[in-house]
Amino acid sequence: MDSAYQTEALIAEDIDTYLDIHQHKTMLRFITCGSVDDGKSTLIGRLLYDSKMIFEDQLAALENDSKKVGTQGQDIDFALLVDGLAAEREQGITIDVAYRFFNTEKRKFIVADCPGHEQYTRNMVTGASTADLAVILIDARKGVLVQTRRHSYLCQLIGIRNIVLAVNKMDLVEYDQSRFDEIVAEYREFATSIGIENFTAMPISGFRGDNITTRSNNTPWYTGPTLIEHLETVEVLSSLDADKPFRMPVQWVNRPNLDFRGFSGLIATGSVKPGDQVRVLPSGKTSTVSRIVTMEGDLDEALAGQSVTVCLADEIDCSRGDVIATADSPPQVADQFEATIVWMADDPLQVGRAYWLKLGTQTVSVTVQQPKYVINVNTLEHLAAKTLELNAIGVAEIATDKPLVFEPYAHNRTLGGFILIDKITNATVAAGMLHFSLRRAQNVHWQATDVSRDVHAALKNQKAKVLWFTGLSGSGKSTIANEVEKQLNLMNRHTFLLDGDNVRHGLNRDLGFTEADRIENIRRVGEVAKLMADAGLIVLTAFISPFRAEREMVRKMLPEGEFVEIFVDTPLEIAEARDVKGLYKKARAGALKNFTGIDSPYEPPESPDIRVNTVAMTPVEAAEHIVRQLMPLK
Ligand code: ADX
Repeated sequence: MDSAYQTEALIAEDIDTYLDIHQHKTMLRFITCGSVDDGKSTLIGRLLYDSKMIFEDQLAALENDSKKVGTQGQDIDFALLVDGLAAEREQGITIDVAYRFFNTEKRKFIVADCPGHEQYTRNMVTGASTADLAVILIDARKGVLVQTRRHSYLCQLIGIRNIVLAVNKMDLVEYDQSRFDEIVAEYREFATSIGIENFTAMPISGFRGDNITTRSNNTPWYTGPTLIEHLETVEVLSSLDADKPFRMPVQWVNRPNLDFRGFSGLIATGSVKPGDQVRVLPSGKTSTVSRIVTMEGDLDEALAGQSVTVCLADEIDCSRGDVIATADSPPQVADQFEATIVWMADDPLQVGRAYWLKLGTQTVSVTVQQPKYVINVNTLEHLAAKTLELNAIGVAEIATDKPLVFEPYAHNRTLGGFILIDKITNATVAAGMLHFSLRRAQNVHWQATDVSRDVHAALKNQKAKVLWFTGLSGSGKSTIANEVEKQLNLMNRHTFLLDGDNVRHGLNRDLGFTEADRIENIRRVGEVAKLMADAGLIVLTAFISPFRAEREMVRKMLPEGEFVEIFVDTPLEIAEARDVKGLYKKARAGALKNFTGIDSPYEPPESPDIRVNTVAMTPVEAAEHIVRQLMPLK
């Protein structure tokens, strides 16, 4: 064999090994917590630089920049690399979560760089939610700070089990071991108090490169791993997930033709083999796995972290949002929970309002009760609160409109972690973690009745409806609703009118006019209207019902087409000029607070089912217009 051939063969072998290594490389997602002052950006810059992730031309630019800002010596200011945005550099703070990718021989890494300030709690939670590990940076000169505690608490809350305490800027304390030990002892005491059992402490200097990729001669007393060694070898939590019971949230049903039906998803925990007994939740139906299909062919076994299509031996109902689990220890199903919620929107939580809750592939409607308490993230004290403001972390009970398949977040991040979405703006407003389900949810069961709602309506020779009048105070809702009811009665229809002022004397006499009270007012009226519609009645409601979200909530509570939104469209000037009850005058004088249209908002319907213009029509004409549009009522 000639030598050239040999070399070529060796290279080919090398490439094979190289590809092999890269294919099987695991991935570590981590976050760095700390402020710019702690040297976070410098550390990340150093990691990227030492793993050769900076390209030559970027490096040249960086050296120039470093000269401009006057870094002494030939040291490169790595912070400049990371704090790429000019605006950030001017402010000297890092704002959004920035994700960076790099890899070494052993692993691929995704690092989320989260800002340190308290007003960025939401960014930190976002970055931490997918992380396997957190590097908590401490400035060796300053030691454990309030923000160190805050970051550690958030990491613990999010469930990051691998914590690295990186005591940075050791060069500025003469690589003093006693200073290092002192900081570690102080941190340990705090960490234990919040339930962090283990952490790995290391003395580093991001600026000088001590113990980042190579062991430093400046810390002969430190025998632990370098930061990169640790990041390369630490066990990734998802590999531990493989030991848990099997759970796979179904992302979609794969049915290309009548001969094939499989359920595709990402295995959250555990493993699955053909022949395994599985249970589909929430229905609870069982079957046996017949095949595990992937793009690369069928598998004998699939593990947590793999995306697969599972085929079942029986034709059982299973759709997106369902969870396929091991038959003998399935996850729980419930509709009321206690949860920790991190509020991430500028507008505070509206207690009682319906939001979307997304948990894995499940989406349900949810309402949040008044928080039991909020947590002061600096002192970890529990404080009373009426709602959750931006960046607040609170514990509250929540109720969903449909059963959720779940596990406590502490056991399973996929089946215990959720986000909340505003139904109108579609913005993500919160992240949350389920603790446990409430007993009452398990013990109160829906009672099936034999005389159905259709029978109730048929006996009355009509179709049930909820005619929902909305509009400003004094717009004419009650007057017109009353007129519509009279006309319907002349047509032998069975009706009932629920009127704001009347209901507020009885059922809702405990409610005022704050946003939260108005939401609860409409929720209760919606429930009552629904019961009456179940009884087969045509229900008329006359409430300001100022918020789109609650009107939509009531629409969703009823069968399609049963909710009819009627916008009594009277401009504010006209309602105020009429001022039938003298309330506008009072409100203008400041004697009546939270008055709709004055100092409390009214959100007009965007596409009401029926609109009446009370300027152009008399109440009787408006009522005739409505009744005409409702026909036929059978
Ligand atoms: S809603 O906003 O919660 O839907 P609802 O229709 O029940 O209100 O009650 C509105 C009626 O309460 C008004 O027609 C008015 O008579 C009376 N009212 C008293 N205070 C207020 C207020 N601050 N804002 C609006 N209406 C008020």
